Amino acid sequence: DTGEKRPALIPATPAGLNRAAELLRAGRLVAFPTETVYGLGADATDDRAVAAIFAAKGRPQFNPLIVHVPDLAAAHSWGLFDDRAHDLATQFWPGPLTMVVPRPANSALSLLVSAGLDSIAIRVPNHPVAQAILRAAGKPIAAPSANCSGAVSPTTPQHVLESLGDRVDAIVTGGKCMVGLESTVIDLTGPEAVLLRPGAVLPDEMERLIGPVRLSAGDPTAPKSPGQLESHYAPNAAVRLNASSAEEDEAFLTFGPDRFVFGGTTRLNLSLEGDLNEAAANLFSHLRSLDQSGARRIAVMPIPEVGLGMAINDRLRRAAAPRS
Ligand code: TXA
Ligand code: MG
Repeated sequence: DTGEKRPALIPATPAGLNRAAELLRAGRLVAFPTETVYGLGADATDDRAVAAIFAAKGRPQFNPLIVHVPDLAAAHSWGLFDDRAHDLATQFWPGPLTMVVPRPANSALSLLVSAGLDSIAIRVPNHPVAQAILRAAGKPIAAPSANCSGAVSPTTPQHVLESLGDRVDAIVTGGKCMVGLESTVIDLTGPEAVLLRPGAVLPDEMERLIGPVRLSAGDPTAPKSPGQLESHYAPNAAVRLNASSAEEDEAFLTFGPDRFVFGGTTRLNLSLEGDLNEAAANLFSHLRSLDQSGARRIAVMPIPEVGLGMAINDRLRRAAAPRS
C-alpha cells in the first residue's frame, strides 16, 4: 500500500482524468460523475475489481451492473444490438438510457457484471468527465450508483464521500449531476421491449422509434430487473407520500408553490415553479438534507405522474416502501 489518504479526491482536469483512468486500468474503484448520478467505476473485464464494487456497496451478488462505454462502436463489442437497440442508441446516446441486450458468447466481461444472466446492461453517458475517463481507460467500466446498496443515490462528490468513505479508492470531483435520477433501463432481450426502470428518457419517446414498450417497472410484484427491489433509495427517516401538509415532527419536501401549505420542522422545495426537470435534479440531495436535519419522518407533497414525474414517483415509492 502507498499509505495514501483514501479516498483520493481527483479534480476533473486533464491530468486528473488520466490519473482516474490509470487507477481504473489498475483494477481500482473510482467514483466519477455522469449526467444522471455519480457512478462507482471498475474495470468490467477484471473479476476482482468487479467483486470489489459489490463489496464496497454491500450489493447483493444477484443484482447485475451497467457497463459504460464512450460510444456505440465500443458498445458493439459487449452486447448484441438488434434494430431496436441500434435505433435507440442512435437517438439517445450519449444520454440517460441503459439498454439490456443479449450478451455475446465468450465475452471478455466479468461474469459477475451480469450476475449470471445471459444479458448485459450497457450505457453511453453524456457527461464530459465520464466521456474523457472512458476514452482514456480504453476499457468497459462497470458502474452502479456510488452509494451503499439500497440508499439514496449520489448527485455530488460530497454524497459519495458520505456514503462510501474509504471504501472507494478515488472520487473524481466533477460537480452536481444535471439529471439527478438514474438512467432509464429498457430490456430488449425479448420480442417485447420492457421498461425496467423509468428515467429521463421517456417511454413515449422510445415508442415513437420502436413501437410499444411494456411498463412493468411500476409493478413491484413483478421485479423483472433484479435491482428493482421494492425498498430502495431509502433515507434513514421514514417517508410519507402525497402529503398536503406536514406534522410538527416531520420534515417537508414540497413541490410547486408552497406558501400556503402547513407544517414541517424543515422544509425544502423540489421546484417552486413546479418544473419536473428541476425537481428530479434536486430529489436525492433534498432527501439527504432533510435526513440530516434529524427529522424522523419526511412528508412529501404529490408529484404529478406525467413525463419525468413517473421516474420521480418511482424513486419516492421505493423510498417510502417498507424496509426489510
Ligand atoms: O444512471 C445510471 O444508470 C447510473 C450511472 C452511474 O450510470 N448507474 C446505475 O447503476 O444506476 P445501478 O447499478 O445503481 O442500477 C443498475 C440497474 C439495476 O436496477 C440493475 O438490476 C439493472 O440496472 N440491470 C443491470 N444489468 C441488468 C441485466 N442484465 N438485466 C436486467 N437488469 C439489469
Ligand atoms: Mg443504484
